[in-house]
Amino acid sequence: MALLEIKDLNITYQMKNESVYAVQDASFTMEQGDAVGIVGESGSGKSTLAMGVLQLLPKTALIEGQALFEGRDLLTLSPEELSKVRWREISVVFQKSMNALSPVHRIGRQIEDVYLVHFPGTPKKEIRERIYELLKVVNLNERVYELFPHELSGGMMQRISIALSLLFNPKLLVMDEATTALDVVTQSQILNEIMQLQDKFNLTRLMITHDVSVVASTCNKVVVMYAGRIMETGAVTDVLVSPRHPYTQGLLRSFPSFEGEKTDLRGIPGSLPDLTHKAEGCVFAPRCPYATDRCRTQRPEIQDVGGKDRPWQVACHMTGGERNG
Ligand SMILES: Nc1ncnc2c1ncn2[C@@H]1O[C@H](COP(=O)(O)OP(=O)(O)O)[C@@H](O)[C@H]1O
Ligand SMILES: [Mg+2]
Repeated sequence: MALLEIKDLNITYQMKNESVYAVQDASFTMEQGDAVGIVGESGSGKSTLAMGVLQLLPKTALIEGQALFEGRDLLTLSPEELSKVRWREISVVFQKSMNALSPVHRIGRQIEDVYLVHFPGTPKKEIRERIYELLKVVNLNERVYELFPHELSGGMMQRISIALSLLFNPKLLVMDEATTALDVVTQSQILNEIMQLQDKFNLTRLMITHDVSVVASTCNKVVVMYAGRIMETGAVTDVLVSPRHPYTQGLLRSFPSFEGEKTDLRGIPGSLPDLTHKAEGCVFAPRCPYATDRCRTQRPEIQDVGGKDRPWQVACHMTGGERNG
C-alpha cells in the first residue's frame, strides 16, 4: 500500500465575490521511503495542496478529493482523529516554524510543553533525553535547550524545528520551503542532514519548494505544479534530466546550475495566470512557446509517457504521449 495517495484533489478558496482555484485535479502517490519534491513558481498552489491534505487551511478553503494515508482518508477524519495524526504520524516544518515560539521562555521549556500536550505525564527527564538525542541529530549543542528564541540564528531555528518535527517518530515529514530563507551554505548543510535522517528514522519526505535544485539534490520523485495543476511528475532522474513538459523545461532553464552557463537565464517570460478563472485549455498555453489552438481550447489530460514500471506523466498535447496537434 502507498503511504500517501492523493486522488483528484481540488482546493478552492471561496471568497465573497470570487473563487480562487488553487489546486485542480491533482493526483500523485508517495511510497514508503520516497522523497517527493513539489516544485513550481510561487503562487502555483504547492502549500495549499500540502496544507489542504493536513486540513490546516482556513475555513474558506473547499477541499474535494481524497488523501489516503496508509489507506485512511485524511480529509474525512474528525478534528480529534487528525490531532493524533499530525505531528505523531505526519509532521510539518515551515519556512518560519519557530515564529510560533514565545520570546519569553527558554527553548527547552517550550519543547517540553509541546511534548506534554501529546503525552501528558511524561517525566521531564525522559523528554529531555529524547530532545538531546534529536538535537545531536541536527548538529546542535545541548546548550540551545537553555537559550531564548532571540539568541538563535535562522539556521539554528530551522534545525530546532526539524528536531521538533521528529519528536514522535513520524512516518511522513512535510517540509514547506523549510530551507528557503537560509544562506546557501547553511541550506546545503541542513539539506544534507535531512537526507541522513531519511535512513536513520525510516522517513518518507515531501519537500515543497520553488527551487528545483533542492528537489534535484534531495528527492527521488518530483511533482511539477503550475497554476494549480500538475504539469509533469515522475522520477527526478527522468523529469529533471529529460523534461517533457515545456513548463518543466523552462523551469530548469531558469536555474543556471542546470545548464552550466550563468549568463543564460532565459527562464519563462510572462507570469502566472489569474486563478479566479478556470482556463479552458492548458493553463500554461499563454506562456508556452509551442502552444497551438488546440492547447488554448482543450485541456490536456495527464498521460503516461514512461511505459511499464516507469511512472512518468505529462499533461501536454505537444509532448505528452503521441503527438497529434
Ligand atoms: N487563504 C487564502 N485565501 C485566498 N487565496 C489564497 C489563500 N492562500 C493562498 N491563496 C492563493 O492560492 C494560490 C496558491 O497559493 P499557494 O498555495 O500559497 O502557492 P505556493 O505555495 O505554490 O506559493 C495563490 O493564488 C494564492 O494567492
Ligand atoms: Mg508556498
